[in-house]
Amino acid sequence: RPLAVETARESARAEGLKITQRPRRNRKAEWSRRLVREHTLTVDDLIWPLFVIEGERRREPIASMPGVERLSVDEIVREAERAARLGIPAVSFFPYTEKALRDPTGSEALNRNNLVCQAVRAVKRAVPEIGVMTDVALDPYTSHGHDGILEDGAILNDETVALLVEQSLIQAEAGTDIIAPSDMMDGRVGAIRAGLDKAGFRDVQIMAYAAKYASAFYGPFRDAIGTQAALVGDKRTYQMDPGNGAEALREVALDLDEGADSVMVKPGLPYLDIIRRVKDAFGVPTFAYQVSGEYAMIEAAARNGWLDGDRAMVESLLAFKRAGADGVLTYYAPRVAERLRANA
Ligand code: PBG
Repeated sequence: RPLAVETARESARAEGLKITQRPRRNRKAEWSRRLVREHTLTVDDLIWPLFVIEGERRREPIASMPGVERLSVDEIVREAERAARLGIPAVSFFPYTEKALRDPTGSEALNRNNLVCQAVRAVKRAVPEIGVMTDVALDPYTSHGHDGILEDGAILNDETVALLVEQSLIQAEAGTDIIAPSDMMDGRVGAIRAGLDKAGFRDVQIMAYAAKYASAFYGPFRDAIGTQAALVGDKRTYQMDPGNGAEALREVALDLDEGADSVMVKPGLPYLDIIRRVKDAFGVPTFAYQVSGEYAMIEAAARNGWLDGDRAMVESLLAFKRAGADGVLTYYAPRVAERLRANA
């Protein structure tokens, strides 16, 4: 051994540091770490987003989201049953709409028998105890890939909101439990709440994508629903500027005022500061969306052997709890639920 190390050991043994605070004492064993742990991730925190395609017994891999597949409605039902067995409280559906069904106003969104409505009905019939959430926005159905009606290069706000109200009613009729407007039009939560109440859907919840940023991290999702290639321009005239924080609080305040039951911050990991600020300012049920790009980054590194995928998955999800989130939408939901169960 080098001499310096010997000397250091000797003097440490002889006197040590004169400190009374030794935070490491609490970390010395697993039992103690468990006792002092401030935040935990449980299966109760999870919402599982699933992609729906046409057909039967069909499972189609998504290249940019390894481990995630598009599923036909019968397969969605099997996965919802699995989610219920694992104790996952809720699932959420996103459709891959055939090109031929897409048009400039997203009229397939208003088809009572579209893929999302089929999935909602089938899952509510087969697994009534699981919560079902559906996205309200036009982008899976529009030929230009935008969340609203596009006219002369601009997204029309109020005209779009009128369609979103119709879309919400159709999803509510199909039996959805939570309407999740992800479009970022102004005034849509209030309009949807009024529409739902008028039609007698007083108990259908609204989880507002309140602080949704114009983000590069949605790339793989747009692959998954087939809008990546179609998207004309970007979504920066309605989704938020990544440079803004206070504006997120304003968006949340408006959505709560308009009747949102819970709010969401999206993406997740790059916006943990926003989750914390929202939770502190409003104290309402606050959710994070660990979006497709976040999932893809972890999976890409894990599949290259660059990090431990399971540990990165759990650590990233726990971070949302620490930041103040009550729950997380995550493509990892079944995998992390299985892991939590195995370690329980
Ligand atoms: C559509 C919508 C998007 C996501 C959820 N709903 C994409 C977008 O706004 O372009 C992204 C989810 C993800 O990336 O996992 N309104």
